[in-house]
Amino acid sequence: MTVCEYKPGLEGIPAAQSSISYVDGQKGILEYRGIRIEELAEKSTFLETAYLLIWGELPTEEELKAFEHEVLFHRRIKYRIRDMMKCFPESGHPMDALQSSAAALGLFFSRRDLHNPVYIRNAAVRLIATIPTMVAAFQLMREGNDPVKPRDDLGYAANFLYMLNEKEPDPLAAKIFDICLILHVEHTMNASTFSARVTASTLTDPYAVVASAVGTLGGPLHGGANEEVIQMLEEIGSVENVVPYVDNLLKNKAKIMGFGHRVYKVKDPRATILQGLAEQLFEKFGYDEYYEIALEMERVVSEKLGGKGIYPNVDFYSGLVYRKMGIPTDLFTPVFAIARVAGWLAHWKEQLAENRIFRPTQIYNGRHEIAYTPIDQR
Ligand code: SDX
Repeated sequence: MTVCEYKPGLEGIPAAQSSISYVDGQKGILEYRGIRIEELAEKSTFLETAYLLIWGELPTEEELKAFEHEVLFHRRIKYRIRDMMKCFPESGHPMDALQSSAAALGLFFSRRDLHNPVYIRNAAVRLIATIPTMVAAFQLMREGNDPVKPRDDLGYAANFLYMLNEKEPDPLAAKIFDICLILHVEHTMNASTFSARVTASTLTDPYAVVASAVGTLGGPLHGGANEEVIQMLEEIGSVENVVPYVDNLLKNKAKIMGFGHRVYKVKDPRATILQGLAEQLFEKFGYDEYYEIALEMERVVSEKLGGKGIYPNVDFYSGLVYRKMGIPTDLFTPVFAIARVAGWLAHWKEQLAENRIFRPTQIYNGRHEIAYTPIDQR
C-alpha cells in the first residue's frame, strides 16, 4: 500500500466518487446533477430538487406529484416522539433537539433493508417529511405551547413557516424560503456529508446517518456559522464599528464568521443569490439595519482578505433572510439541516450502491513500550 502525505482536514483528498453535485471554487460554479444552482433556484422547487439529487434525474410531472404526496402524507410526527421532545430542556440548542429526534425516529423504523429500493424511498420520504415538523415542534414546545399540526393544503416551505409561526406565511416569504432550501440542500464532500457517508458505510440505518450528519453540521466552522453571523452583526452594532471589529479579529487570529471556504476562492454563488433574496424581502417587508453592516463587512473583509480568496460564504447572508421571516437565530442551523437532509440522503444512497466501510489510517506519533505505573506511584 502506498503511504500518502498527511493532509490536515483531508484537504484535496477525494473521499468518494460522486455524481451528485459539483463545485468549481475558482469560478464560483455550483451544479446539482449537472444543473446550475442559479437555474434551479429560479425554476425548480425544493422537493423537485431533492428528487433530482436522490434519484439522479428531474422527475416527470407524475413522479413529482407522487413524491410530493408521499412527503405530505408523512409530515406528522408520532406522539411518542412529540412527548419525548416535550421533555427536552427548553434551554437546549435546537440542533441538539433535532439530532436526538432524528435518531429517535430510528427506534420506530429500525429494520435495515438496505437492498430494497422501497425501504430506501420510504426512509428518504419519512426523513424529508418529518425533520421540518420536528424543528417547528421543538420551537413551539420550548415556549410552552403545543406543536401545530401540518396543513395539507400548504406546500413544503409554506407549511414549515406555518408550523413555526402558527399563521399562514406571505406567499413571497414562502417562495423565498423554498429557494433557500434549494440553495442549502447539497454541497459535495463537506464535513456533515462526509460524516453521513462514513456512518452510511457501516450499513447502519438512515436515521443514524442523518443524526450523525446533524451533529456535524451544528459546529460554528460549518452550518453553525449562520447563527454566529447575526450575533456578530449585533455585536458590531454600526457601520463605523466594522473596521475596528475586523482589525481586532485579525489581530487575534480569529475567524470571521460567514467568510472563507475550503473550496471557493471567490464569493460563494449561494451567497450572491441569498443577498438578492434578502433585498427582495427588505423591499416588501422593510429594511434591516444589519444589512448596511453586512455590506460594509463584505467590503472590508474582501479588501483585507480577498488576496487569500476569502469572501462571503453561504452562511453570511442567509441569516438576514431568515431574520426577516421572523425565524429565531438559533433555528438558522436547523433550517439549514431541513434542506441538507435530502443531500445527505442522496449521498447515503450513492454510498450504499458501491459501499466499502471507511477505514482510513493514521500516523501514530505516541510512545511505545511504556511500563504500566501502579496507581500509588503516579
Ligand atoms: C459551510 O465545505 C462546505 O462545503 C461547507 C458548506 C456547505 O454547504 O456544506 O459550504 C457550509 O460550512 C460554510 C462555512 C461556514 N463557516 C464559517 O463561516 C466559519 C468561518 N470560516 C472559516 O473558519 C474557514 O474559512 C472555513 C472553516 C470555512 C474553511 O477553513 P479551511 O479551509 O480549513 O481554511 P483555514 O482555516 O485553514 O484558513 C486558511 C487561511 C488561514 O490564513 P493563513 O494562516 O494561511 O494565513 O485563511 C484564513 C486563515 O486564517 N481564513 C480566515 C477565514 N477563513 C480562512 N481568516 C479570517 N476569517 C475567516 N473566516
